[in-house]
Amino acid sequence: MTQRWDPDAYAAHARFVSELGEPVADLLAPRPGDRILDIGCGDGALTERLRTAGAVVVAIDSSPEQVWAALERGLDARITDARELEFQTEFDAVFSNAVLHWIGDAERVIAGVWRALKPGGRFVGELGGSGSVASIREAFCDALGARDIDVATVDPWYFPTAAQYRNQLEAGGFLVDSIQLFPRPTPLPGDVTHWLRLFAQPFLAAVPDDERGSLLEEVRATLEPRIRNADGVWIVDYVRLRFAATRPG
Ligand code: BEZ
Repeated sequence: MTQRWDPDAYAAHARFVSELGEPVADLLAPRPGDRILDIGCGDGALTERLRTAGAVVVAIDSSPEQVWAALERGLDARITDARELEFQTEFDAVFSNAVLHWIGDAERVIAGVWRALKPGGRFVGELGGSGSVASIREAFCDALGARDIDVATVDPWYFPTAAQYRNQLEAGGFLVDSIQLFPRPTPLPGDVTHWLRLFAQPFLAAVPDDERGSLLEEVRATLEPRIRNADGVWIVDYVRLRFAATRPG
């Protein structure tokens, strides 16, 4: 997948991702001494919150740049692909915010999380759910379709329904304590172009370098009447899927 993370751009244009992840950390309710694995820690902003609660956190991310940013916060951060977890029965909880929709192979991730947890351990997380960023997906579908590119060949996102993800968790041996899908329209701190450059790289990479600027402008123009309000604020149609599950004891 053609997606790279730039910690400075992320901090400037996507700080809302960790800030809006606070309720997921609340749902986890970390306790002093808990050993917690944070999958997809990014620059570690939310991981720090778990550590502040007294938990001992191992933070992983597949992006070397983000892991470096997390290390600079003094976190135990490691470059690891969430599909390749090798931890065995060592965590009281596994946490993940706004990452699992980047990984199509949910069964493999869930199996690794189950192995990583102690019996009775909890898996608490949030990912994009069915219908998330539909306006943006559709705009790329039209713009790439007009260039004879099938958007499905580049679309990296996996946005399950609550029923789909519940089934996957249960098939992986988890008891699902709660799972809910809900819309979360999200105002952006600036122009949608920053969001697209940060989060939609696989779509932009579908065209040659010298066509990316015009693709970006076209997608922005399609989106403007749909997701920009009268005050000029861009509001992205995020949908969240939040869950808590337990590895039976
Ligand atoms: C989400 O959190 O739903 C999301 C994040 C980045 C791109 C698409 C969706």
